[in-house]
Amino acid sequence: MPPLPSRRLLLAAAAVAALGACSRREPAKGASVAQDADARHVNVYTTRHYGSDQAVYRRFTEETGIEVRVLEIGGAELFDRLQTEGDQTSADLIVTVDGGALWRLADANLLQPVTTPALQAAAPARFHDPDNRWWAFAKRLRVIVYNKQSVDPVILRSMDDLAQARFRGQVCARSSANTYNLSMLAARIERAGAENARAWARGVVENFARPPQGADTEQIRAVAAGQCQVAISNHYYLLRLAKSDDPVDRETAAKVGMFIPDQDGPGVHVNISGAGISAHSPRVAQATRLLEFLLSSESQTLFANLTNEFPVRPDVELTPELAALGRFHEEQIPFEALGRRQAEAARIYEEVGWR
Ligand SMILES: [Fe+2]
Repeated sequence: MPPLPSRRLLLAAAAVAALGACSRREPAKGASVAQDADARHVNVYTTRHYGSDQAVYRRFTEETGIEVRVLEIGGAELFDRLQTEGDQTSADLIVTVDGGALWRLADANLLQPVTTPALQAAAPARFHDPDNRWWAFAKRLRVIVYNKQSVDPVILRSMDDLAQARFRGQVCARSSANTYNLSMLAARIERAGAENARAWARGVVENFARPPQGADTEQIRAVAAGQCQVAISNHYYLLRLAKSDDPVDRETAAKVGMFIPDQDGPGVHVNISGAGISAHSPRVAQATRLLEFLLSSESQTLFANLTNEFPVRPDVELTPELAALGRFHEEQIPFEALGRRQAEAARIYEEVGWR
């Protein structure tokens, strides 16, 4: 739930990234920066503002004696700050959500490659950068939430349904400037083409119950309140409401069902949380240990319990709430496509009037 970059910033970032691709420098090696191998701390820049991450960092410190110093920062600010700090940065590990954001950082040479046997063993091939500049430690599904009273889930099959006439005036959505929505449409462009993406986005806009507003949780609340029948959300927001200490949240969750779409088609859209080592990290050894720890079974179990994200490791046991969602088939596109196609996704949303 990082503050999200504006579309203008995103396009600017994409332009910067494109420039980087034309005049590609040597990938950063880190060795050019004086290394403090004995440092007893490691600096993390993160766009994640979750208690779970603090719990993981505390466990890391208990185990290694290395203190984790955390700077919480917005997604766009993170990119700008790393660009500005250049080789003077004190950032060691960069932690963020969204495959698109990880691609953008890597493409702008802000991350350095790292690989170890522990990392290789922890992350299936699809869940790390082919050049090893970022590694995913958790995943999230973009799902359909529906009002249990007015929608029989047997009529649901695909995210495509939200563009069908049967849901005219019945769809709630958040802004298209949101990274989750940008990456979802970027993935669709990658697998089905721009024409398909444009037609789908246009169809959903025609079905809006109200102008886009609020974050994913607000879409769930609107569905529960009957303001719309269906909406799009990341899976963990509904689980969080269902597990909330606040009885009002639990009542809201009880009125809403979760449908994992596209199981007999391309698979549900998946996005990731991940991390990489800053291109100019002064403490690569410590950052590597922390990265390995983020991918460990212990950490992924903590994430599953505290943020309701799915582990990327196949050997981590699911929580009862995650297990209850059943087995699912995932959209199989490279995560870098989420970044590569975000600017095009932003243009399509703009074109069809999804504000
Ligand atoms: Fe989120």
